[in-house]
Amino acid sequence: MNSKEPKAINLEGRDLNYNPELEENAERLFKAPCNFVIGTTDYAIFPSCDIPEFAFIGRSNVGKSSLLNALVNQKGLARVSVTPGRTQQVNFFQLGSNIRLVDLPGYGFAKAPKNLVKSWERMSVGYLKNRINLKRLFLLIDARHGFKANDLEFMQQLDKHAINYQVVLTKLDKTNKEQIQSIISFAKEDRINHASMFPDIILTSSKKKNGIMDLRTYIYNANQ
Ligand code: GTP
Ligand code: MG
Repeated sequence: MNSKEPKAINLEGRDLNYNPELEENAERLFKAPCNFVIGTTDYAIFPSCDIPEFAFIGRSNVGKSSLLNALVNQKGLARVSVTPGRTQQVNFFQLGSNIRLVDLPGYGFAKAPKNLVKSWERMSVGYLKNRINLKRLFLLIDARHGFKANDLEFMQQLDKHAINYQVVLTKLDKTNKEQIQSIISFAKEDRINHASMFPDIILTSSKKKNGIMDLRTYIYNANQ
């Protein structure tokens, strides 16, 4: 993906207008220091719902922690791993004084014991159903693989519980235009089945820092 290509696509075919002023504000927001608050499996000690939260979910190894690090421009903040299933808790990060970012455990990790994977998934759904301060959930899809059965199952759960989510494609540097186009075409057709899906898809590579500014701008906008 070169730097002139679009970093977000509207599934209804609308042009997305890029507003430099919004980008500047978003950039400023993400210049604030970002710190780890707590990683826990226990709802009782989740931070209170006092400030807006933006959460990240997706299959194990999709690149959630890497994307979070790229967003706040801090390499080692959320732990990245070559072995899937690294993030096994709900991890809260405070960005400046007004926003929290939340790294959720991945779903659909085939090699981990089934009951453990189910418990991560329950934890994530438990978080999502109960966070009144959740402004937006970003659902990450690996652009090399597109929507897999377990992504679609998870999306159905989100639709059923009316939890709004926005799809973010990850690892764009590892794929090609045709593959991206086929994922977008699939999403356009399947949209009808997903009442809670936001119509813009963001295209990112944490490695090449593509689409990161766009994601920041969506977060800034959603927080207004
Ligand atoms: P779990 O916490 O295990 O569920 O994984 P995760 O979704 O947090 O993924 P993580 O960020 O740990 O990344 C998984 C692997 O993918 C690591 O080896 C990353 O270096 C790699 N990766 C993440 N994002 C990108 C990207 O944009 N491009 C490339 N090429 N690799 C990436
Ligand atoms: Mg992780």
